[in-house]
Amino acid sequence: MTTLFDPVRFGAIALANRIVMAPLTRARSNRDAIPNALMAEYYAQRASAGLIISEATGISREGLGWPNAPGLWNEAQVEGWKLVTEAVHEAGGKIAAQLWHMGRLVHPDLGGGRPVSASATTAPDYAHTYEGKKPYAQSREMTKADIQRVVGDYATAAKNAIASGFDGVQVHGANGYLVDQFLRDSSNFRTDNYGGSIENRLRFVTEVLEAVGGAIGMERVGIRFSPNILVQGVEDSEPLALFTALAVRLEELKVPWIELREAHRPTPTGVVPAEPVSPAMRPLYSGKIVLNGDYDGASARARLAEGIADAISFGRPFISNPDLVERLKAGAPLAPADTGTFYSGGPSGYVDYPAMDEAEAA
Ligand SMILES: Cc1cc2nc3c(=O)[nH]c(=O)nc-3n(C[C@H](O)[C@H](O)[C@H](O)COP(=O)(O)O)c2cc1C
Repeated sequence: MTTLFDPVRFGAIALANRIVMAPLTRARSNRDAIPNALMAEYYAQRASAGLIISEATGISREGLGWPNAPGLWNEAQVEGWKLVTEAVHEAGGKIAAQLWHMGRLVHPDLGGGRPVSASATTAPDYAHTYEGKKPYAQSREMTKADIQRVVGDYATAAKNAIASGFDGVQVHGANGYLVDQFLRDSSNFRTDNYGGSIENRLRFVTEVLEAVGGAIGMERVGIRFSPNILVQGVEDSEPLALFTALAVRLEELKVPWIELREAHRPTPTGVVPAEPVSPAMRPLYSGKIVLNGDYDGASARARLAEGIADAISFGRPFISNPDLVERLKAGAPLAPADTGTFYSGGPSGYVDYPAMDEAEAA
């Protein structure tokens, strides 16, 4: 039987094990979105993951609305990322860049102008800015020219990722950001061929994947979704119909791997998830499926044994357990993550979580 410690291949990327580090925004770049040596240290500490998915990384100034998050649209950012990819490779790991356009979730204060989205909508709650939280601004509906430009930005960022030494990319199609804003009927009210029917709502993500695959080869491309729960005001009235149609499309496009952040229980604020879609996607899609969300060693093993997932990704456990793979192998306890330092900047709560004590492993 397949275990978490067996190797697996995601297209061109050979993973030493099936324990993936989920993408985690940690806000340790600078205002110019340039990665640095501290980030290289953090990622290298976690290189025993079969694959690290980088924190969400802006494809353009317009698309990046998180203070101190990194980007991949200029030369200085490519040079910064080289520090990270070289350190991870040196430590024997693999790393993919998560490509991010936040759409309506970018506050104008971040320098990208009025935010763009599938439609003119306003996200609920508050945006992160350098001056603290502020209400979101209403987005402008993207024109066809905007769509072409942004699709081009994804392709350029993918090329920059490869130039930076990444092993591949993951398009961020989850969590209510731009790709998700086009996919779902709670945020896409377009009346042209990018909105309305499921077929039309799949058009933007299809064009993004074709462009990114065309730029770097589809064997280096993955994509992430959060199918079954309301996130940042984005959800769908028919997730099962949408995501089974998407599975067929991903199969046609030959996307080699996908990651699904599937919720299994209500959030702390009481948002109730719909049924998981991965059981229905599995027979329609022959690529590798990574499942994510609230796993520990025991539940990850159980999920792998069900035969839907090819790998499991861990987010918060990787923040506080840099040697998560070794801990899972040893059945050692997992250290809890300190939420106060998730986005606080600096080394504290970032590179100072200790690896497991030798004594604990024994
Ligand atoms: C601090 C933090 C930052 C996150 N940043 C990202 C991100 O950049 N991109 C993304 O797709 N998901 C992001 N997520 C979601 C995680 O990848 C993951 O889906 C979530 O934490 C659930 O998995 P877990 O229970 O293993 O932590 C973030 C979550 C946390 C806690």
